[in-house]
Amino acid sequence: MANYPELNGRVALITGAAQGIGAETARLFAAQGCKVAVVDIDADNGGKVAAAIIRNGGKAQAFKTDITDVASVEQAIAGIVQAFGGIDIVINCAGGYKQLATVEDMSIEEWDRTVALNLRSVFLICKMAIPLLKKSRAGRIINVSSISGRTVHAASSPAYGAAKAGVTQLTRFLAYQLGPDNITANAIAPITTLTPRVAALRTEADIERIASQVPLRRLAVPEDHAQAMLFLASDAAAYINGVILDVNGGRVMM
Ligand SMILES: NC(=O)c1ccc[n+]([C@@H]2O[C@H](COP(=O)([O-])OP(=O)(O)OC[C@H]3O[C@@H](n4cnc5c(N)ncnc54)[C@H](O)[C@@H]3O)[C@@H](O)[C@H]2O)c1
Repeated sequence: MANYPELNGRVALITGAAQGIGAETARLFAAQGCKVAVVDIDADNGGKVAAAIIRNGGKAQAFKTDITDVASVEQAIAGIVQAFGGIDIVINCAGGYKQLATVEDMSIEEWDRTVALNLRSVFLICKMAIPLLKKSRAGRIINVSSISGRTVHAASSPAYGAAKAGVTQLTRFLAYQLGPDNITANAIAPITTLTPRVAALRTEADIERIASQVPLRRLAVPEDHAQAMLFLASDAAAYINGVILDVNGGRVMM
């Protein structure tokens, strides 16, 4: 596995880090020596992820945060500065949707909730973290989009797909506007990933069917995405800016 000694001591804010891809990302960044802010609305699991990192000799603290709420994000950013002194890396990983529906059938509440969780949150976290990233030697923003924001490839939520497409364009604006401050902004776009949540929702037959459509013949695992984000955060990716990295086994190529 790749090793990035330059990440040692850098502060990484990771949303959605209480479980799934975010939790694995928190573990991998902590293993590289990052101080990890586990930012999640789920205080219980967020605390467990931070505690496990500390037990393994790493540095982490959980911040109970509703990333769709201005006051809650402000409080988290202030807490991270107090705990770790600044922010070098922002990973916007929290996201998802509750309901599969057509545009015609989707409730307005589900639309607003989904867009707030997947897009407004990225704007809020970035807006409030940018002044701190500007003080970093190598600021990094990494947003987690989705294959659903790249193309319509399977049953998904229109609100989710539209919000994730918004995340990719917001990423490009961030890359364009923050480049002069030596801050890069990139996104990854995962395919269906075998997190514990997805594994519990899908049958073996579902998983085999999805895997059969992927050239690599398997679903992604959280580590596939965490490794891609480690690379984007590292000095090896210093000149990569405004890129949407499809981590999808070749399922959709663009
Ligand atoms: N798992 C997949 O198959 C898949 C595929 C493509 C893209 N993605 C994207 O990857 C990211 C991570 O996916 P996952 O499946 O690991 O997620 P998950 O559902 O397992 O975890 C999401 C985390 O976000 C937190 N969260 C939810 N609402 C929040 C809020 N308002 N404030 C703060 N935290 C909140 C949850 O508590 C949870 O810990 C998401 O952005 C998702 O859209 C996932």
